[in-house]
Amino acid sequence: MQYAVIIPAAGSGKRMNAGKNKLFLTVQDVPVIIHTLQVFETDSLCKAIYLSINPAERESFELLIKQYKIKKIKAMVAGGKERQESVYQALKAVNEADIVLVHDGARPFIRHSTIRHLVEKADESKAAIVAVPVKDTVKRVENGQITETVERSSLWAAQTPQAFHMSILKKAYELAERDSFFGTDDASLVERLGVPVAIVEGQYDNIKLTTKEDLYFAEAILNNRLSTPEG
Ligand code: C5P
Repeated sequence: MQYAVIIPAAGSGKRMNAGKNKLFLTVQDVPVIIHTLQVFETDSLCKAIYLSINPAERESFELLIKQYKIKKIKAMVAGGKERQESVYQALKAVNEADIVLVHDGARPFIRHSTIRHLVEKADESKAAIVAVPVKDTVKRVENGQITETVERSSLWAAQTPQAFHMSILKKAYELAERDSFFGTDDASLVERLGVPVAIVEGQYDNIKLTTKEDLYFAEAILNNRLSTPEG
């Protein structure tokens, strides 16, 4: 089952505090966004990539895409203020796909094997996301005091990619826009439709590069990958 992937890359990366879009920072001399794009460029199931970008950075993206010979990009659309708007703009450009994935540009370490499991699951159950069981004990806190220790066994941390039948994702985004609903991931928009969303267990190293220290983790993850490669 082939798929199209939307990659939101239009963030400003404020929490990284790098003075530029964190996706242009390098890990082992290669920009983060290129690591991410290469995963999909080399995945035979991926037939098209839709990238949302900040128009002011278009030239920088175009140069990198040319330099690293990324061929599967079908459209580069202008993103919005929020990630959700950036994904929606790209979604409007997608055509001819039954399964659509959404994957953060800032998660360069997703594996082909996880994508494969996800796509199989989304094909059979309409909506599925990659997630990992929460490892820490989680507390609910109000005014600096714990009000609850949340039962951990049913808690999962959502990652990307998240995969959907195209018609469901479109409907979810249309309704979210109509209702001015903002979710922190794509699945939360689909959950509102009452569509069950399945979980595919991912890996803890599929990190989202968010703050400066994530760059150290990223170097370590890549070193480990190079010594134990996987498809
Ligand atoms: O900021 P954060 O890392 O959570 O963003 C996740 C992904 O969404 C990043 O790849 C970022 O570039 C993208 N994004 C976007 N448009 C925004 C905000 C974030 O495309 N307005």
